Amino acid sequence: MSNSLKHLGIIMDGNGRWAQKHGFKRNRGHEVGAEVVRDITAFCSQHNEIETLTLYAFSTENWRRPKLEVDFLMRLISRYLNKELENYMKNGVRFETIGDLEPFSNKLRKTIEQTKELTKNNSNLVQILALNYGARDEIVRSVNKLLQENREITIESLGSALDTPYSDLDLLIRTSGEERVSSFLLWQIAYSEFAFTKTLWPDFTRTELESIIENYKKRERRFGAI
Ligand code: FPP
Repeated sequence: MSNSLKHLGIIMDGNGRWAQKHGFKRNRGHEVGAEVVRDITAFCSQHNEIETLTLYAFSTENWRRPKLEVDFLMRLISRYLNKELENYMKNGVRFETIGDLEPFSNKLRKTIEQTKELTKNNSNLVQILALNYGARDEIVRSVNKLLQENREITIESLGSALDTPYSDLDLLIRTSGEERVSSFLLWQIAYSEFAFTKTLWPDFTRTELESIIENYKKRERRFGAI
């Protein structure tokens, strides 16, 4: 029997290098990257197995980038959400986020909350954007939450206090040739399969995703058993 694929996670990397390669400013790479997010989300919403797609859109470390780039990314995410609502409804996608939204502007937070509310009954796919997300931050916030509630820390209690109580990740893809995790879903990748591709995110296609999935299906997952 082949592996099931319910939860897919992607570290979308290489926008800047793609732009540089083509003689564009870095922001152009993010813009094209947002188009790829749209297409891969549509693909996953039509896939008969994938229930959740978690995308690393902005890490807790990304604030260290030049202010102009950070501001551009904020505007891009906001534009993306406004434009995407129609597709979310058409493709049955529920929008969710993980990460601490506190530092974002009121306007962006409002767009995020409205999009969640308007899409909450869609059931083909949950698209989770990781925004101001870092797994260490998520784990520490969750432990503190349990301590405040005077609850015992167990695998179950901590697992369900996380931003992502949805499910463990089955497959993690990172584009652009980097082979590291960069604090993405550390708890949820305990038994994930990893796939690294040299393709830069703006060049990533559904055809490549299909071939990665095909390869994943053939792997043997033992979850620690023999
Ligand atoms: C990495 O490229 C990517 C990001 C910092 C964030 C991902 C953002 C997008 C795909 C676009 C916006 C997303 C949405 C959901 C609208 P990089 O800049 O680190 O590339 P580099 O390593 O080549 O410099």
